Amino acid sequence: MNPTATQTREITLTVNRQVITIQADPNSPLLFALRNDCQLNGPKYGCGLGECGACSILIDGKTARSCSIPLKAAIGRQITTLEGLSQNGQLHPVQQAFVDAQGAQCGYCLNGMIITTTAWLDHLTERPSEADIRNALKANLCRCGTHLEILDAVRLAVANKFPEADSAATRQPQTNQPQQDQTSTNPLEENSPWNRF
Ligand code: FES
Ligand code: FES
Repeated sequence: MNPTATQTREITLTVNRQVITIQADPNSPLLFALRNDCQLNGPKYGCGLGECGACSILIDGKTARSCSIPLKAAIGRQITTLEGLSQNGQLHPVQQAFVDAQGAQCGYCLNGMIITTTAWLDHLTERPSEADIRNALKANLCRCGTHLEILDAVRLAVANKFPEADSAATRQPQTNQPQQDQTSTNPLEENSPWNRF
């Protein structure tokens, strides 16, 4: 037997609130099944190494890099892709904030930016600082260098979720200078509740 041959079998996944059965190799990347078998092209193939975030999805509400997760690890879990964030024809508030802030150039990274922001914001119970925002997105790469507009979109999503606070607080630094005097109160940790399945 060829040890490199794929071993396809029937696999049932729950994706965007729907049960889907596919024929696939359980050891293949989850991203391939989502894009090729489920025809969900929100998650993108960027680095393929778990480094850029373009392939991000939610698994049980946590961010997951689907290029680096075997399909079999998602069996029995709730998978949500970018397509599944909108409901009843309404964009998710984070998606709407990115539209309103025009937070894109080519858009390739936006899947990861939006998925990460969604998981992060869902977990927050109080308004984050500017440093928290930058910290939450620091592991997502944008090769166009559109970080300023992306940060504006995230600030808008934050302001929409926490409207009672002074919006100037998070909208303030509008430059891309490092915020050395600010410390994050919400450090990005691999095992924080919203981050990294
Ligand atoms: S494509 Fe998955 S992290 Fe880059
Ligand atoms: S907008 Fe092009 S990679 Fe981010």
